Amino acid sequence: MLPDQKLQESAAAFPIPAGVFAETVTSVVHYTDRLFRFRITRPASFRFRSGEFVMIGLPNAEKPVFRAYSIASPSWDEEIEFYSIKVPGGPLTEHLQKIREGDTVLMRRKATGTLVNDALLPGKRLWMFSTGTGIAPFASLIRDPETYEKFDEIILTHTCREPSELIYGSELVAAVRKDPLCADFAGGLRLYSTTTREPSPRMGRITDLMKSGKLFRDLSLRGICPVADRGMICGSMAMLRDTKAALEGFGLTEGSNSNPGTFVVERAFVD
Ligand code: A2P
Repeated sequence: MLPDQKLQESAAAFPIPAGVFAETVTSVVHYTDRLFRFRITRPASFRFRSGEFVMIGLPNAEKPVFRAYSIASPSWDEEIEFYSIKVPGGPLTEHLQKIREGDTVLMRRKATGTLVNDALLPGKRLWMFSTGTGIAPFASLIRDPETYEKFDEIILTHTCREPSELIYGSELVAAVRKDPLCADFAGGLRLYSTTTREPSPRMGRITDLMKSGKLFRDLSLRGICPVADRGMICGSMAMLRDTKAALEGFGLTEGSNSNPGTFVVERAFVD
């Protein structure tokens, strides 16, 4: 892909807005023609909890377009990672997908969100339900030792249209298991990936797999119960609605930062 010449030129032409960090891109990896990951430098004063999101933009206009992005790296990481979709004609992602190492990304100073360990009541098993780029906040949480201190078992489900869209998640989990720093605490992590439109070893929407019981049979579990199980959901509006209904059907109730519950929900923002 050619560097975005317009982006480079315009970046020099516009001042950085007040109250915003201007950070440098340190790496970019393209997974498919729809998905990419990038990492930026981390400002020393930037604090967040694993699982939170932040607003990001590009220095390519007087009033840059900002969009909410889940931070995919854990809170201890020296850099900040994001996992993004490329929306044709999307006001931010059309330009963002062309960034290169050394380019500047703008980031607002405050991170927030409900997919955090503090918004859940204590439990034994944590389910992370994701579709598409909704895996990003879980990429942060499965690299945070605190998640494993709070739960004996973590089950990350990731559903995409086609197998190539599962690569980010499978590489991530493999890396967590191999990393000597994480391997000690990540023994309880399981990944359950499915596709819906192109063939792969496991197929179907996670909501259908819960309904049929196949998810639980595959994992040798009895099901989901409000005493031991906790849930986090991140995906499209329709996926959130249906997965939330499924968890409520098992007797779980939605929580928030101010009122922790047995599951929490967040939209995968950019569309
Ligand atoms: P499907 O292919 O059957 O629509 P998208 O890229 O559109 O966000 O979809 C990502 C994944 O989420 C796809 O595998 C899609 O399945 C699945 N999905 C879409 N809507 C729902 C829903 N309401 N409940 C569960 N999974 C969904």
